[in-house]
Amino acid sequence: REDARERLLKLVEMSAAFFQNALTSGAGTEARRYIEKRGLSRPTVATFRLGYAPNSKSALREHLAQAGFTVEEMISSGMLIGGDDIPVAYDRFRNRLMFPIQDLRGRTIAFGGRALDPDAPAKYLNSPETPLFHKGHNLFNAHRARGPAHDKSRIIAVEGYMDVIALAEAGFDETVAPLGTALTDDQLKLLWRMAEEPVLCFDGDAAGQKAAFRAVETALPLLKPGQSIRFAFLPGGLDPDDLIRQKGPEAFLEEISRTRALFDVLWERETKGHDISTPEQRAALEARLNALVGKIEDTNVRAHYEREMRETLWA
Ligand code: GTP
Ligand code: MN
Ligand code: MN
Ligand code: MN
Ligand code: MN
Repeated sequence: REDARERLLKLVEMSAAFFQNALTSGAGTEARRYIEKRGLSRPTVATFRLGYAPNSKSALREHLAQAGFTVEEMISSGMLIGGDDIPVAYDRFRNRLMFPIQDLRGRTIAFGGRALDPDAPAKYLNSPETPLFHKGHNLFNAHRARGPAHDKSRIIAVEGYMDVIALAEAGFDETVAPLGTALTDDQLKLLWRMAEEPVLCFDGDAAGQKAAFRAVETALPLLKPGQSIRFAFLPGGLDPDDLIRQKGPEAFLEEISRTRALFDVLWERETKGHDISTPEQRAALEARLNALVGKIEDTNVRAHYEREMRETLWA
């Protein structure tokens, strides 16, 4: 069993090296041009071990087969797509810029891939759940970010891989991203191991707003004395990568220096677009807030939320 796991880790590591090598080859020309267009430096490409998945259904499979891996192992690791109704298993990642995903010990366990072709059906494609990779338990860049996060007592969670990389390049090396899903409770707990009040930084668009409130609901039951989350919403529909490229690192620093507390975001969500001018409407608001605050499991924190809620309601 343990041996099977070790073999999958080797397989995924070998795939990462294969993609890295392909990026430097003739087939990788377009990908290198894309990297340049996105403004990524050579050291950044090396640090994050970026690679290129060739536009082929069998290049990786053949490479791994030569090293003695079975097709079953290639499918189990998520690198190949196969199954009973698929006569010949084929490479999952094709013509994509590849972002290896590492566990906390720095071992590569999965990939995210960004389409180079703007007409590709999905802009990003991630490895599926595998024996090595559970999306909801991992954060992109966690193993590189945790040292800097401890030093700075700050961890920043952003939406995308490219955001993490652009921020690292700008000196914000205490940055992670969830893996194409909403932030899970396990990911929040991982963030809390790195700082008491992680800053969740969302794109300044409708999707970012929605994601923020989902994060509020995930966090509420888990709040502890001193342990919360803070929010940054970027202006003008920009994401961190856009903001840094357009306005520089100082602009990003400014945004994450005036973050908003969880209570504020919760209050805004329940009052924005709601008329609260009548007593009945305010009573309904109170009921909605009560339902949310009731999710807080820590009695001490809950009592303080109840008080802040009353004070704000009766202000
Ligand atoms: P760029 O366009 O390369 O700058 O990517 P982005 O990170 O700005 O993309 P976006 O803001 O649209 O999405 C944020 C994150 O959501 C991405 O980094 C992905 O992790 C995820 N995501 C976006 N599009 C898709 C998709 O089509 N499929 C999946 N599985 N995840 C996606
Ligand atoms: Mn879980
Ligand atoms: Mn977005
Ligand atoms: Mn974005
Ligand atoms: Mn972007």
